[in-house]
Amino acid sequence: MAEAAGNQEAKDYGIGVPQKTEGFFLKGSGHLDWGMKDRLSRVFNPKSGRTVMLAFDHGYIMGPTSGLERMDLTITPLIPYADCLMCTRGALRQIVPPTSNKPVALRVSAGSTILTDLNDECVMDIEESIRLNACLMAAMVAIGGKFEALTIRNLTQLIDAGNRVGIPTLGVNAVGKELVRDARYLGLATRVIAENGAHVVKTYYCSPGFEKVAAACPVPIVVAGGKKLPELEALQMAYEAIDQGAAGMDMGRNVFQAEHPVAMIQAVRGVVHDNLKPKAAFDLYQTIKNKKK
Ligand code: 5RP
Repeated sequence: MAEAAGNQEAKDYGIGVPQKTEGFFLKGSGHLDWGMKDRLSRVFNPKSGRTVMLAFDHGYIMGPTSGLERMDLTITPLIPYADCLMCTRGALRQIVPPTSNKPVALRVSAGSTILTDLNDECVMDIEESIRLNACLMAAMVAIGGKFEALTIRNLTQLIDAGNRVGIPTLGVNAVGKELVRDARYLGLATRVIAENGAHVVKTYYCSPGFEKVAAACPVPIVVAGGKKLPELEALQMAYEAIDQGAAGMDMGRNVFQAEHPVAMIQAVRGVVHDNLKPKAAFDLYQTIKNKKK
């Protein structure tokens, strides 16, 4: 019980010592509110400024994708090695142990599948993101596609709702089949997504010119892995993306479809957090893969 009288006198005012005002480590995020910064600091490692996100939200448009047929068997062993889990609310509730305590980039846009017209989507109520303790809300943004206007409206609606409660938004650059993934297109798309208020942008790596895409995007970029590549090539791509300014990888198929997914995610971590060169990361992959159980 607090007492009004008889307390030790307060005297350590640090007169003459300016109050510490910390900067914030993430690009474009310095003026955000505390809750946003707290959530972003769970997604991105404040030491390296980077993240390894494990994406396994593919089922919401593709059904039981190779490697995701039984997520309880294939994804749960990878969870300890991920900085952040990118998934649907279905997968989260069905297979992710809440005790894993990993920040979640929740897929909150949905509406169509690979069987029809992709990106004809709406977004979930903000309450679901609050209920599930999301650290990022992820929505497709189809710049240059048939549903460009609809998905930009979805993005702004989410950002407005997220700003009210302190949950940042991840704008996912959805590249339609008809669009070329070159620096010109990706530069335009990522910039549009960021200027509409997304706190983080997910896009694809391109060569040449990714360093320009990253430089012109005023918020952190995370890079999707895309279709499965041989492991060394995937690590090479991750290395180049990070080296040219990406703040992390948001990898799915190149991890869970790898010959040894647990080794692959650790090798990706080596690239992202420890600046391992592709060959060294591949050696790490082989060493973990060949370890006797
Ligand atoms: C699919 C997505 C995925 O999360 C994204 O494409 C990352 O996965 P991959 O590395 O397999 O491309 O947005 O809806």
